[in-house]
Parts: sequence; C-alpha cells; structure tokens
Amino acid sequence: MARRRVAACLILAGYDVTTASDGQEALERARSQPLDLIFLDAAMPRLGTRDIVVGLKGSRDTASIPIVVMAPRAPDTENLIGGGLEYDFLLHKPINRDDLLAVARSLIRSGREARASLPASRVVRGLEGVLEVLDPDTRDHSHRVGEYAYQLGARLGLTLSECEGLRRGAFLHDIGKVRIGGAVLSKSGPLTSEETKMMREHPSHGARILEGFEVRGIAGEAIRHHHERWDGSGYPDRLTGEAIPQTARILAVVDAFDVIVSGRPYQEAASYSRAFDLLRQEKGRQFDPQLVDAFLEMMAPEMVSSRAGTSRRPLEE
Ligand SMILES: [Fe+2]
Repeated sequence: MARRRVAACLILAGYDVTTASDGQEALERARSQPLDLIFLDAAMPRLGTRDIVVGLKGSRDTASIPIVVMAPRAPDTENLIGGGLEYDFLLHKPINRDDLLAVARSLIRSGREARASLPASRVVRGLEGVLEVLDPDTRDHSHRVGEYAYQLGARLGLTLSECEGLRRGAFLHDIGKVRIGGAVLSKSGPLTSEETKMMREHPSHGARILEGFEVRGIAGEAIRHHHERWDGSGYPDRLTGEAIPQTARILAVVDAFDVIVSGRPYQEAASYSRAFDLLRQEKGRQFDPQLVDAFLEMMAPEMVSSRAGTSRRPLEE
C-alpha cells in the first residue's frame, strides 16, 4: 500500500512516476529507463532491500540514482534494512506527505546538479568509444577486467564507491595505449628494447589522460600502478609490496588472469587451471600473495589445480 500512496502523492505534485511490484522488477526498470530518484519499500517482495541497493549502486548505469528506503520506525530498523548499505535517505513509515515531497525535491535537485557538475560518467563513456576504436579486443578485455576487479574489491571489503572507482580504473586501465602505435600493439614477435620502453609508458600515459578529464582518485592510481610488481621490479615507479595501492594490486592480478585465459598476439589462450597455476607461481614476485589467494578462492576453488607450470613471457600488458 505504501507504493500506491507514495506514487499518488508524487503524481499529484507533478512528477512522472513508474512503479514496480517487486524487487526484481524494480531493478529491471531502473536499468531500462532514466530515473532521478528511487523510493524503495523495505518490505518489497522477491528481492531483499540489500540485494536491490547493492544491485543499483553496484552498476555503473544506476549507481548515481539516489535511493530513499522506506521502513517502519523500530529499534531494529537498521538490521531489517541491512547495515552499511549506501542508500541516500531513510524515510520512516507511516510516511508524511510533506516529508515525502521535501525529500523528493531535495534529492532530485542535488542528483541533477551532481550529474551536471561532475561529468565523470560521460567522460568514461567517451573513453569507452576511444577504446573501441583502439582495438575491439582491448575493449572486451577491459570490460572483463572491470567486472573481475569490482567483484574482487567487493569481496575484500572495499566500499561501493571504492569498487566503482576500481571498476572505472580497471575498465580504462590500458587507455594509455592510444599513445602507442598499432604496429607495436599488434606485434606477434618479441618487442625491441625501444618498443618495450614505449609499451611500458602506457600506465603513465593513461593516468595523465584521465587527469586531463579530471578523473583522478582510485581510478587514476589503479591505472598508473597496474604494472607495478610486488617485488619492486615493475613500472613505472618500481613500488614494492603494500606501497603499491591496493586497487592497483587487485587490477594487476585480474588483468594478468584475463590476458592468460584470453590470449594475446604473442601468446595463445590458456585454460583457467593453467592460469591459476601461473598466478600462484607469481605470488610474492609479481603479485600480492593474499590477493592471489582471494582471487583464486573467488574463481571457483574446485577448479584450482596444484600442477606446476612452465615459464613463459612475463604476465603483462
Ligand atoms: Fe596495461
């Protein structure tokens, strides 16, 4: 009943309103049409409030939509909803019409202002287009790496906004390759020392490109440092161990994994179990050992083989 009353109040105040009868439908609506604000009844059927909020805030397309959770005023309200969730406002039932309209006005206005003043999502979409032109394989690889990074970050306890920053950085991690010629990028044989030097500048190029678009923070640091190695022999800054930002250490693991299983011009695609072997071999050398363990645990531990592998070109690019 809260849904109908809320919808009626908003429609009478002049807002365009769409409703969903359960959590799954709410998620589908939010993904398929532009929304300025979502009112979410904590007692919504099918999907729990936690699943819906995480689903909305965890998706690039819906993360910026403000969410108002409507719940009874009770001592265990926070437990009912789920602690640590990143909704934007808690409205207690029974809902007062004036409160409802004040919250709607405020959140819709601030959401629109934020989207207008911080066009990071538009910048990212624009850069996605650059990636497509650069190389369709790079684009697909970047999408997969973004998803792996987001999932691993969430598993490690990063906040939703940190996970989003990490996913953005992961998606754009090789954007600096636009400064490198296609001949080098698609070369199937060994790189010359000059070509290797050029290739190793792509993380710095990428971080600088994003700075130009004022996309900094987590995404920028993950991009700049995604080829640092745990043992200090990486680039561009030869950072060691935990001096490497955690987001960049996460990105290094998931990037290498996807390169191994999807292949490169210089290297055939390998099986998942082979990739797991290679990641394990590089624990404490190329990768943070704990992050390798967490990633293997996430990626179906039953598939992890204990077989040792053979040496191959370093896991990079
Ligand atoms: Fe890279």
